Amino acid sequence: MRRLLVAANWKMNGSKESNALLLNAFKAGFDGSADTAIFPPAVYVPQLSEELAGTSIAYGIQNAHFEKSGAFTGELSMDMAKDFGCQYVLVGHSERREIFGETDADVAKKVAAILAAGLIPMLCIGETLEQRESGITEQVCEQQVGAVLEKVGIAAFEKIVIAYEPVWAIGTGKTATPEQAQDVHAFIRAYLAKSDQAVADKTRILYGGSVKAASAGALFGQPDIDGGLVGGASLIADEFVAICNATQ
Ligand code: G3H
Repeated sequence: MRRLLVAANWKMNGSKESNALLLNAFKAGFDGSADTAIFPPAVYVPQLSEELAGTSIAYGIQNAHFEKSGAFTGELSMDMAKDFGCQYVLVGHSERREIFGETDADVAKKVAAILAAGLIPMLCIGETLEQRESGITEQVCEQQVGAVLEKVGIAAFEKIVIAYEPVWAIGTGKTATPEQAQDVHAFIRAYLAKSDQAVADKTRILYGGSVKAASAGALFGQPDIDGGLVGGASLIADEFVAICNATQ
C-alpha cells in the first residue's frame, strides 16, 4: 500500500561532469520498481532539471529556509526550489542538527514552509550512539517527530516522508540490522497512529545509514521500512542502481 522510495543525498559532493555520469547511469539502470529522488547540492538543481526532464526521477534540495524571501544571505526559499521543479526538500538531517545547530523548533518551522510551498518534506530523525546506549532511542525519535507533529498536525504526515537515520550508522559503514531498524520504524508508526491510524498507515518511513546494495534488500523487506535515504553509496552509480532495484 505504501510505494517504496529510495533517495540519494549527495551532500556536498559532485561536479557537472560527475553528476552527468551518475544521472546517465541512473536513467539507464533504474527498473522503476521504486520511486526515486536525488538531492544534489542546490547549485546543480538546474542541471538535474534539464537532465531528468521526461523521467520519473524526482529531485530536491538538502535544506530549507522558512521565510519566503528577504535579507537572509546564503539561504534559499521554498518557492525558489519549486521554481526549479524540486518536489522534495530534505530537512533536519543530523549533519544540519549537529554541525549547524538546528533545533527541533527550527526543523518544525522549515517543515511548515516546505508544505506551504506544496513540496514534500523528507524529515530526518535519529539518535546518536550515546543516546542509543542510554536506552533513549524511542524518546529521541518521539521528540523529533513530535515537534513537527505539534507544528503541522497529523494530516500533514500523509505527505511528509520520515527518514530514520541513526547517527551512529551515517557514513560509518555500521548499518543498523534490519531488526534494529524495523523496531524503530514500527515505534515511529505506532507513535503517529496514536493521533491517526489511517495517516500512520500511509506515512512513508525510510531508513538511512550506510545502506549498500548488499544490505538494501533485507532492510526494504521489513514491514515498516518503505525505502532508504542513501548517502555515500548514492555516489557510486552501480551501487545506487542496485539499491533502487532491490525494492521489489
Ligand atoms: O542522508 C543520508 C545519510 O546521511 C546516510 O549517509 O549512506 O553515507 O551513511 P550514508
